[in-house]
Amino acid sequence: MPIVRAVVCRAFGEPEELRVEEVDTTPCGPDQVRVRVWASGVNYVDALFVQGRYQIRPAVPFVPGSEIAGEITEVGPDVVDRRVGDRVMASVGLGGFADEIVLRPEQLTTVPDTLSFGQAATMGQSYCTAWFALTRRTQLRPEDWVVIFGAAGGVGLAMLDVARSFGAHTVAVASTPEKLQLCIERSANAVIDSSADSDAVGAMRTRIREITDGGSDIVIDTVGGPLAEEGLRSLRDDGRLLVIGFASGTIPSLPANQVLLRNRTVVGVDWGAWALGHPHDNAALLAEVLDLVGDGSLSPVEPTIHPLEDVGTALRDLLDRRVIGKVALESRSR
Ligand SMILES: NC(=O)c1ccc[n+]([C@@H]2O[C@H](COP(=O)([O-])OP(=O)(O)OC[C@H]3O[C@@H](n4cnc5c(N)ncnc54)[C@H](OP(=O)(O)O)[C@@H]3O)[C@@H](O)[C@H]2O)c1
Repeated sequence: MPIVRAVVCRAFGEPEELRVEEVDTTPCGPDQVRVRVWASGVNYVDALFVQGRYQIRPAVPFVPGSEIAGEITEVGPDVVDRRVGDRVMASVGLGGFADEIVLRPEQLTTVPDTLSFGQAATMGQSYCTAWFALTRRTQLRPEDWVVIFGAAGGVGLAMLDVARSFGAHTVAVASTPEKLQLCIERSANAVIDSSADSDAVGAMRTRIREITDGGSDIVIDTVGGPLAEEGLRSLRDDGRLLVIGFASGTIPSLPANQVLLRNRTVVGVDWGAWALGHPHDNAALLAEVLDLVGDGSLSPVEPTIHPLEDVGTALRDLLDRRVIGKVALESRSR
């Protein structure tokens, strides 16, 4: 049986324990396709899977890697709408950090000609989350002030791009000059260094109110911890705090009086669970996003590429806040 390479997680643990192994190739069933993976996106959720900290704990051993882009190399006889050579992308949950993956055709989306494999492998989760948050869970308006915590991360940059495409005013919050610079290059209207005055209670909300002339309309929180309450308190009348994630590792508790005041709303955003439960709606959502990518309204960042063997470093960099923008693994140079 032919051999392929894959990153195998044999026990929950730290990313550095992951190894690239040679494994038997998976047979391609009559209703399946085989995809040569040219790039796999590295996401926070992949690290959580490996550490056993995600809400779903897969049986070990497993191959991590939740989104891929590549070329179809084999098509099962019952598959009618796909051809060898098609450029495709997919959100796969697990199995993406490998030379190849066998999938059902309904999992695949055609990669627009305007996107590289790297961009296609790193934009699905982040842009779908951003588009779901700002068009389904709340409605972003062109006149809104949008504050984004963790703005130089994957979801943050996608939120910035979506908000820019609406013509909204954006405030990017990030922790280093390099991250803030990227946010400016990605057309943030203003930036706040979250590492400055981080101990001063109220410093963040004061800064946001100054920049936004009285308060933000939308705060997007991918970080959690004390920032969440700062974001809530910075909202103007009818403002909305979007709860996206807790990259800081701390799930915040929020004072209900601050929600009541000024008729604010706290909005939960769980794109992943929604996408699993509503696959057709999610396909429509992704199609909307890709149409906008296709006509140039949205422009996902080009990721930094690492070889598959560097999976441990790539995930550690993400966990330790060293990543600026997006990162992808490439299984072998083309
Ligand atoms: N709700 C949903 O549907 C959904 C979908 C996708 C992802 N998420 C979640 O959203 C969060 C962000 O995802 P992402 O893909 O944007 O991650 P990412 O690319 O790693 O970005 C996260 C950002 O959080 C900031 N951060 C602050 N404290 C941190 C810490 N202790 N460790 C790591 N990062 C820290 C970092 O920015 P600074 O250094 O600038 O502070 C970093 O750039 C994650 O919790 C993820 O699980 C939720």
